[in-house]
Amino acid sequence: QAASALQEERKKPTYQDDNEYADMDWDNLGFGLTPADYMYVMKCSKDGEFTKGELSRFGNIQLSPSAGVLNYGQAIYEGTKVYRKENGKLLLFRPDHNAVRMQLGAERMLMPSPSVDQFVDAVKQTAFANKRWVPPSGKGSLYIRPLLMGSGPVLGLAPAPEYTFIIYASPVGNYFKEGTAALNLYVEEEYVRAAPGGAGGVKSITNYAPVLKALSRAKSRGFSDILYLDAVKKKYLEEASSCNVFVVKGRTISTPATNGTILEGITRKSVMEIASDQGYQVVEKAVHVDEVMDADEVFCTGTAVGVAPVGTITYQDKRVRYETGDESVCQKLRSVLVGIQTGTIEDTKGWVTCI
Ligand code: COI
Repeated sequence: QAASALQEERKKPTYQDDNEYADMDWDNLGFGLTPADYMYVMKCSKDGEFTKGELSRFGNIQLSPSAGVLNYGQAIYEGTKVYRKENGKLLLFRPDHNAVRMQLGAERMLMPSPSVDQFVDAVKQTAFANKRWVPPSGKGSLYIRPLLMGSGPVLGLAPAPEYTFIIYASPVGNYFKEGTAALNLYVEEEYVRAAPGGAGGVKSITNYAPVLKALSRAKSRGFSDILYLDAVKKKYLEEASSCNVFVVKGRTISTPATNGTILEGITRKSVMEIASDQGYQVVEKAVHVDEVMDADEVFCTGTAVGVAPVGTITYQDKRVRYETGDESVCQKLRSVLVGIQTGTIEDTKGWVTCI
């Protein structure tokens, strides 16, 4: 009943006076889970069709111990954010791109997926239902996490007989404990993130747990994140554990080409477009680690991470320092992206959807 009252309320536009806020310390948001009130659940029938989903209070879900996701990792996820504009309106950033990426990932993991319309509508419903959890303008965002999993039981290795699509949300601030300060990255040579022919190019949950060992080792040595090298030659840059990476030299901005091992980030492609608009030469290519060590600037991009400057990179026994600060290329691109996302810069590209 609460959910259908919400569906009705959603038809009304949001204005500043409408704003009721959750009881949160909005000035100290990090990237920990504070579950927002509602989650969205949609099940897929045995014939592969997603039927109408619905909102319910956030809470635990029931799964068979032999669910495909628990035993064989058959699941993918997405991440998108809702921002509050100064006038109180809520803005979603390119949710249709998440929808398409989920479809591509589902195809790779042999799962049925919601249509683009189903996905976007579900994200909007979840965002609206949780609007009191969208931080005040300029204080952070509501991170939305769509998850598609093989929820039906299996024993032998096979696609699950049933699938569940869930969306939950949490207010967030900066991803890294460094806040907006420059990151210190470590080039990992022992472990790789993804190999040609694997699933590194999609947001499979199986790309994340294998990263934890090297990540926690690097964190214990004071690094913010790891930069992975390619699995074959161990000489070309791939991405960090949680984000894509860019290298700046003069007016040229390079980023590793997506060839199936690198995630096609939505922030990545948005930043590439903003950089081209500003007259930079943007190149997708194999980026050699020596080129990284000789760059003027390095920065990372991702939905969770945003656009984050890199202060140092450590590779073998060498540590290189990069330009950062207000005049950096990273900061210029970041301010345009954040301006579009939060509605302080006019969105001439149709990237932002008002809910
Ligand atoms: C995101 O940026 O949305 C991600 O999925 C990265 C994750 C490690 C938080």
